Amino acid sequence: MIGRNDPCWCGSKKKWKKCHYPVKGKHVESVEDIKEKYYKDYQIIIKNEQQIEGIKEACRVTAHILDETCKMAKEGVTTQELNDFCHQLHKDHNAIPAPLNYGSPPFPRSICTSLNEEICHGIPNDRPLQDGDILNIDVSIILNGYYGDCSKMVCIGNISQEKRLVVDVAYECLMRSVAILKPGLLVSHIGDVIEDYAHANSCSVVHQFVGHGVGLEFHEGPQVSHCRNNFHIPLVPGMTFTIEPMINAGVRDAVMDTKNHWTAYTKDGKASAQWEHTVLITESGYEILTNWAH
Ligand code: MF3
Ligand code: CO
Repeated sequence: MIGRNDPCWCGSKKKWKKCHYPVKGKHVESVEDIKEKYYKDYQIIIKNEQQIEGIKEACRVTAHILDETCKMAKEGVTTQELNDFCHQLHKDHNAIPAPLNYGSPPFPRSICTSLNEEICHGIPNDRPLQDGDILNIDVSIILNGYYGDCSKMVCIGNISQEKRLVVDVAYECLMRSVAILKPGLLVSHIGDVIEDYAHANSCSVVHQFVGHGVGLEFHEGPQVSHCRNNFHIPLVPGMTFTIEPMINAGVRDAVMDTKNHWTAYTKDGKASAQWEHTVLITESGYEILTNWAH
């Protein structure tokens, strides 16, 4: 919760009560100025009430589809079967899977399924899940033109201590970095929290992939780095973005699949884990828009 004497969320370094404190008829113009500046300088779209309602609904459905798909992930099931089940859920909710045909080369499936040493952007295939696997399922949808994006981990049977560690550390990295969000906080602080926690627990943080603004487009500004960085710009109410830390048991480096040009693997072949939420910055703090079950 931002206090009257805290620095204003707009980054002016003035006290909130002396700056953008909500007083009827005051400062309306400078909120518009900030919107314009954020878009022009950082491609950050600060959303209005109507857009926020649309994004909330998209995120609610995204989290529901993710939860239902994760329930189907069991030993013997293939990630292709998860993809097909999930695709049908999209249809049932009048949603479009955002990954399908996205990018270049076009992503070939409706969801990403990243297994064990796969960091992200794994492509569903015919390999059955096995005892000891850890799997990230990443669901992003378009609903009535608005985007939601989230992912979580599923553990199959008994997993190694090392896999348990990355799964739990990645979860903590996400939730601890979400917990600090409020207007005025610098985007760079998210990376500080994640890197500190991961390193304190002998894990590394992938630096080649980032969280991102989301809502009206799949990937908007800002890039949300999960490592220490120099993007010292203040969060503003109406921003919607993802935090999606990728945490490795070994080295942080990612190598790309040379055939499909999508899947990223850990360089040393050790396990990687990721959890993702879409969040909204509010006047007093934040809201998690993709409330999946943990
Ligand atoms: N949450 C992932 C991301 O933002 C979803 C990727 S879908 C893909 O990168 F199509 F880009 F692979
Ligand atoms: Co994302």
